[in-house]
Amino acid sequence: MADTKSVATLSFAGKSIDLPVLSPTIGPDVVDIRKLYAEADLFTYDPGFTSTAACESSITYIDGDKGELLYRGYPIEQLAEHSRYLETCYLLLNGELPNKTQLEDFEGRVTRHTMVHEQLHAFFRGFRRDSHPMATMVGVVGAMSAFYHDSLDINDPWQREVAAIRMIAKLPTIAAMAYKYSIGQPFVYPKNSLTYAGNFLHMCFAVPAEEYVVRPELARAMDRIMMLHADHEQNASTSTVRLAGSSGANPFACIAAGIACLWGPAHGGANQACLEMLREIGTVDRIPEYIAKAKDKNSGFRLMGFGHRVYKNFDPRAKVMKESADEVLELLGIHNNPTLQVAKELERIALEDDYFVSKKLYPNVDFYSGIILEAMGFPTSMFTPIFALSRTVGWISQWKEMIGDPGLKIGRPRQLYVGAAKRDYVPVANR
Ligand code: CMC
Repeated sequence: MADTKSVATLSFAGKSIDLPVLSPTIGPDVVDIRKLYAEADLFTYDPGFTSTAACESSITYIDGDKGELLYRGYPIEQLAEHSRYLETCYLLLNGELPNKTQLEDFEGRVTRHTMVHEQLHAFFRGFRRDSHPMATMVGVVGAMSAFYHDSLDINDPWQREVAAIRMIAKLPTIAAMAYKYSIGQPFVYPKNSLTYAGNFLHMCFAVPAEEYVVRPELARAMDRIMMLHADHEQNASTSTVRLAGSSGANPFACIAAGIACLWGPAHGGANQACLEMLREIGTVDRIPEYIAKAKDKNSGFRLMGFGHRVYKNFDPRAKVMKESADEVLELLGIHNNPTLQVAKELERIALEDDYFVSKKLYPNVDFYSGIILEAMGFPTSMFTPIFALSRTVGWISQWKEMIGDPGLKIGRPRQLYVGAAKRDYVPVANR
């Protein structure tokens, strides 16, 4: 529990009310307004939750001004350099880094759950063959609640744990199956001798007709992409998972809701939108035209992969991702890729442009991730599914934290009503 530090006094309409001020471990103090309506008959108004803490959490912390991201207190740069995705999953889920035995046990459990129920294969075939893999994933993950009945009881900590392991293990399989289905290739079963990331690459790129060997450097780059996306505080999709879960909905339904929210271009869909934008720009000489469009409020156009609600400094994930992009392109011998040339020049120009500098719009994680994924051979439609499978551990950790909180309440925001006041029904003949 956060400590009560002091009180803030709100004066309104001749009344004065004291509101407790809570102190977090790090970050700004928080005015506790839970009793505001009961005591002062007032609501607060904060569309987009720009100044509202909707929960207490001890999982992830972002310092937007410093450009810092901590998972359970550990800086993302240290984890990206020294940890691996499954170790980071353990950390996010359990709060501490595992010792050797705990890590082996966790890896073993995840690895043994990578296959999906065979009947799910038939479920996939109900989708149109050219479905976007995100559309398929929303449906299939939601349908998991129809296949795994023994992990639906949210009040049983063991079932919650099993649901968590199942989702971490099966999301890469489901994402790879959605991809294979969309391109008309047979599903590739997981291969448990491979690493988590290596197995995902294998399920996406292997075909029964020939041998596919996972390059360890690419598996490591994929692992890092997963780690950088693993959690990110109370973003839109995480808040969606929490809101869905606050009603007592089962974990698979909640994660499906998170995937649906992530799909939007302002959130996880930005990586696909960003690469499509870079391709549309096409050549370096067209960049000024797009910069001008991004500055024009009437154009409705934004530079995809730029800006962030919380980071007002370089996105720390983007820094690591940029290094990874350079390594992967070097490894694959890609030097004169036109998309990459446009990306590098766009970044340079935007970082010097007064509009972007004054609004603190820096490249975000999505700006570079697409470049790596494209170099690895993924089509743009797979970018957001990869974000989704990587973020699944964050969603589940946040969901578990919420369910375990004895003070859990169903999420139920209030509103500033601006519609018609009470009026009488008018029969159609008199209208
Ligand atoms: N291009 C041009 N102008 C921008 C951009 C952009 N990408 N982003 C923000 N602005 C301007 C915006 O027009 C506004 O200007 P003004 O103050 O004159 O009205 C100002 O910057 C603040 O923008 P905002 O919309 O109030 O900021 P927000 O916190 O609501 O939005 C954002 C954050 C990420 C949705 C937004 O920056 C954006 O749409 N970026 C492009 C999409 C994108 O890359 N999303 C991925 C986010 S990182 C991955 C993830 O966590 O999902």
